[in-house]
Amino acid sequence: EKGGFATFMEKEIYDQPQAVADTLLGRSDAEGNLILDELRISEDELKSIRKIIVLACGTSSYAGMVAKYAIERWCRIPVEVELSHEFRYRDPIIDANTLVVSISQSGETMDTLMAVRYAKEQGARTVSICNTNGSTIPRESDAVLYTHAGPEIAVASTKAFLAQITAAYLLGLYMAQLTKKLYSQEIKDILADLAEIPAKVQQILDNASQIKDLARAMAEASSVLFLGRNVGYPVALEGALKLKELAYIHAEGFAAGELKHGPIALIDEGQPVFVVVPSPMDRHSLHAKVVSNIQEVRARGAKTIVVAEAGDETVKEYAEQVFYVPETQPMLMPLLTTVPLQIFACELATAKGYDVDQPRNLAKSVTVE
Ligand code: BG6
Repeated sequence: EKGGFATFMEKEIYDQPQAVADTLLGRSDAEGNLILDELRISEDELKSIRKIIVLACGTSSYAGMVAKYAIERWCRIPVEVELSHEFRYRDPIIDANTLVVSISQSGETMDTLMAVRYAKEQGARTVSICNTNGSTIPRESDAVLYTHAGPEIAVASTKAFLAQITAAYLLGLYMAQLTKKLYSQEIKDILADLAEIPAKVQQILDNASQIKDLARAMAEASSVLFLGRNVGYPVALEGALKLKELAYIHAEGFAAGELKHGPIALIDEGQPVFVVVPSPMDRHSLHAKVVSNIQEVRARGAKTIVVAEAGDETVKEYAEQVFYVPETQPMLMPLLTTVPLQIFACELATAKGYDVDQPRNLAKSVTVE
């Protein structure tokens, strides 16, 4: 059942090309029109949406952060992302023109379920991005977009995360199509780039020995920092979370721009810092800014480990190690840059002798508030 792998976690990391491909499968017709699984909201209601609130916990909330960048860019609708347990208890402002998008692998996370119920009571429309057919959250939502990652057994989420990001992109494209904020050719182009992602994830998996070697060499690290910017920011947060969950190592993810406002004080000799570098093609020209962040931490003694796009030669000079991922459009990069960070955490935890499938103190699905 582990498909020849020693652990479910490893199997699920290697399942990711399939998880993304299956989530894309059958989601668009020949004209490139997107299809939701269950839609109990009219298209007119969807067109009247003025605000989107994404609700989730843990890894799923980082998929939500990626969703914010994509939906705002493609649909020009304001998107807030909030942890489900914070949302409910702050008197959020919701009305019939608010779309609440919940993201949950299990569909049973109590915090998220309660937040969705609350949003419905307040009159919001609700969409569920979920990996578990017929679970409670999709059942109680107005519309559903299933992630087809297959059952995820390991407690810490990997393949569900990539599938959630994929589904979030599809939802963004669907909304952009309804509201005509993107030309149909633009939607087709993004779908074509998405279709190439599974093979690119496979390439990363096929070339994992460098990151695994690094993970084993770093088994004694006591703290690891992760920096990212724009869509790389949630990737940095997820890289840090995986290391906490699997290897019990203190790890923090930061928005790279925030470095100078505090976290740089943490840097001293030998501090490992992962940096998720934006594409050199990013339209906000963030690449140069993040490269200068690498220089800043390195000048203070950090051991810099960089995840960058293939062909990006500029980072080599400042990085102790560079992990290249295949090129794609900047918005889609999280589907690739996350993978080396997952492999790193899994391999490091395995080197320490920990049970990566059942980390201490954690549960796969938290059904209490
Ligand atoms: C946690 C799991 O408790 O719940 C995480 O250990 C997961 O891996 C989080 O990301 C949210 O779960 P779900 O099922 O709502 O996505």
